[in-house]
Amino acid sequence: MTDVQTLSASHPAPGVLSRIFRTEQDGAPNDGHEQVVLCHDRASGLKAIIAIHSTALGPALGGTRFFPYVSEEAALEDALNLSRGMSYKNALAGLDLGGGKAVIIGDPNTAKNEAMLRAYGRFVQSLRGRYVTACDVGTYVQDMDVVARECDYVTGRSPEQGGAGDSSVLTAFGVFQGMRASAQASWGQPTLRGRRVGVAGVGKVGHYLVGHLVADGATVVITDVSEAAVNRVRAAYPDVEVVADTAALLQARLDVYAPCALGGALDDHTVGALGAAGTAVVCGAANNQLAHPGVEKDLAGRGILYAPDYLVNSGGVIQVADEFESQHKGGYNFDRAKTKATKIFDTTLEIFTRATADGVPPAVAADRLAEKRMREISALRSVLLPGARQG
Ligand SMILES: NC(=O)c1ccc[n+]([C@@H]2O[C@H](COP(=O)([O-])OP(=O)(O)OC[C@H]3O[C@@H](n4cnc5c(N)ncnc54)[C@H](O)[C@@H]3O)[C@@H](O)[C@H]2O)c1
Repeated sequence: MTDVQTLSASHPAPGVLSRIFRTEQDGAPNDGHEQVVLCHDRASGLKAIIAIHSTALGPALGGTRFFPYVSEEAALEDALNLSRGMSYKNALAGLDLGGGKAVIIGDPNTAKNEAMLRAYGRFVQSLRGRYVTACDVGTYVQDMDVVARECDYVTGRSPEQGGAGDSSVLTAFGVFQGMRASAQASWGQPTLRGRRVGVAGVGKVGHYLVGHLVADGATVVITDVSEAAVNRVRAAYPDVEVVADTAALLQARLDVYAPCALGGALDDHTVGALGAAGTAVVCGAANNQLAHPGVEKDLAGRGILYAPDYLVNSGGVIQVADEFESQHKGGYNFDRAKTKATKIFDTTLEIFTRATADGVPPAVAADRLAEKRMREISALRSVLLPGARQG
């Protein structure tokens, strides 16, 4: 059988793999990926996918998700989506870093072991800096210390190992900056004082966010499926109101809704409920909040100001970028990273201004600004630097 016969006989429907090679001409701006690496270590059982969406702005930075995916295809789909998101997040955060993400297939509670993490580190090392990793769902600072025993391109390590530690501190700080900017745009003052803010999910980021809000004088209402998470917040901030679930939170007459749990928090039902309750602002830490294309228009149509998720939650990546860039220059500096994360306030206001000027929702204005930066800064490589390798 010839190759042509083989192809036409099997005639597989285009699957997730075809997404890697998509181009602008296919009507999918920025959807194709530069490089996707499948990593298999038989001895430790490692099955990982490293997706590099773009190195237009520099090495592709993004965390490693350890998750029990139902299939390899689902893992690849996630890696492709997440790495694309990182290109936009890093671009808008003003970093000289591209977008990448890795996934390890398996249950982090049962499958994770030293050999597997070190094997993973060797695969990351083999890319010689095209991809730089960090923590994500299912991976922790201690895991990055293990990965770093085999690899130079690891951030999110423990302070004892020269790393920046837990990134949720600056993520929460950045979300708070985005929320202050949203308050400025909505009510003319950059403060949540006197506002009623609902936080859905008070885990690592959410509980720090509650601290900022309480200090700023907001009335805070929270919900979480974890009783332990709720109790931790209650113990630290006894005045915080607690409601049973997200449905109750949406009806709690909020000025601001902060999704800080899982992705897809903003679906048609939620947006309808927010509109009915008169909520003015949505600004939270969760990644990929918009459940499907069009939700951003629905929010804008109902007069709800949406602060784009990947813009306001970039404090964590700003932190790990500082850790990476300062590796050979004296090490991570919290105050320097915090100063950079403070700029999320200005960028959020800029996005709102551009959205109004262009007559588009803020999510679209954010995408456009990120794409503009990727285009313009990557074009600098056309200016020859004698003696240096281009790029
Ligand atoms: N940690 C970071 O630095 C960082 C950076 C950028 C984005 N994010 C995103 O922010 C979100 C929160 O991250 P995290 O690090 O705080 O995670 P986390 O796991 O520590 O906290 C999430 C919390 O949400 C709760 N939760 C889950 N389902 C819920 C539901 N249906 N209703 C209410 N609560 C629910 C969990 O019990 C948990 O307490 C995630 O979407 C994450 O991707 C985190």
